[in-house]
Amino acid sequence: MTRAVLITGGGGVGKTTIAAALGVAGAEAGRRTLVLTVDPARRLATALGLEQLGNRPEPNPKLDGLYAAMLDSAASWDAIAYRHAPAAVADRLVTNPLFEAVASRFPSGQAYAAAEEMVVHLESGEWDLVVVDTPPASGGIDFFEAPARMRDLVGGRLLRWLTGARLPGRRGLFNLAGRPALRLADALLGGPLLEQVAEFLFDLRTTYDGITAKAAAINRHLAAAATVVVTTADPGPLREALRFHEVGIAPALVIFNRALPGSWAEPVEPLTDGRPAAALNENLARWALEVRRQEDARADFSGRVGTTMVTIPWLADAPIDLDGLQAVFSGAPALTLERLGV
Ligand SMILES: Nc1ncnc2c1ncn2[C@@H]1O[C@H](COP(=O)(O)OP(=O)(O)O)[C@@H](O)[C@H]1O
Ligand SMILES: [Mg+2]
Repeated sequence: MTRAVLITGGGGVGKTTIAAALGVAGAEAGRRTLVLTVDPARRLATALGLEQLGNRPEPNPKLDGLYAAMLDSAASWDAIAYRHAPAAVADRLVTNPLFEAVASRFPSGQAYAAAEEMVVHLESGEWDLVVVDTPPASGGIDFFEAPARMRDLVGGRLLRWLTGARLPGRRGLFNLAGRPALRLADALLGGPLLEQVAEFLFDLRTTYDGITAKAAAINRHLAAAATVVVTTADPGPLREALRFHEVGIAPALVIFNRALPGSWAEPVEPLTDGRPAAALNENLARWALEVRRQEDARADFSGRVGTTMVTIPWLADAPIDLDGLQAVFSGAPALTLERLGV
């Protein structure tokens, strides 16, 4: 059976790095492993074996059993349209200016499209382990809420708002001229708009059944996966991490990344050799203070959520090649595949 691990959390905390490191660990433990990554730095992409940033899994030339692919979110709305509507309807949808307007105002569409892609890989039967680096929108939480939002958008809210009715058929849509919202839009934007709106809504409605079924499948996979929330000891990422608990998503574990070494807070013999020594002593004192602040932040977080927590140290060499990725994993003895049920 395919096991999924979802790596999520605020921006810049180390999600992509940790997803790659878990992938390396999985492959080294003999699991046929796919890393689905979002925005790898160039050198990290190369280390993963991603020569072209495509969404087809590519084998790693240096590590057997490791594959990587991009979770493409750029062409996502178009992809959704083509997946869930007949080609002719999809053609019309993606060229309708309203489609672009909705797509740009509804970022969950990207997260939803990425989730659909994830499910394709989870259901392919090809993998023991799929590690998913979640797209960065709104602290990663968007990825978990996107299926419901998407279903709501195409099946309910937008249509109800514009039409004041349940899902209408094509004739119903063309009879909407009397609806105040549409009449207002028409007055503001000119005649042809009404027809465009009606066509758009009808075309969008054809995607509803497909999206409803797929959203349910995505939610099943999300619930079965091990979720790893990554944070640093900084207030912004910590707030993002807390939101998972607030909305009732229980992570398998929380990773505190880039933790300063505890030894930096231990007292050392002060240096006594003139001005450079004084500056050095002052720096050591500052770092000691920062280490204690991080420890307090971790303790405070732990007290609030009670999830298993793992600390990954701040590495002197940025983890951007296979050795560096191994160092991420081995620098945190408490981080094991077993703990993630892998
Ligand atoms: N434990 C670590 N020690 C040192 N640098 C790290 C560590 N984890 C991540 N980094 C570096 O931090 C930066 C952001 O990491 P990245 O994985 O891209 O974050 P995200 O995907 O959450 O935006 C990268 O330059 C990465 O190399
Ligand atoms: Mg990233």
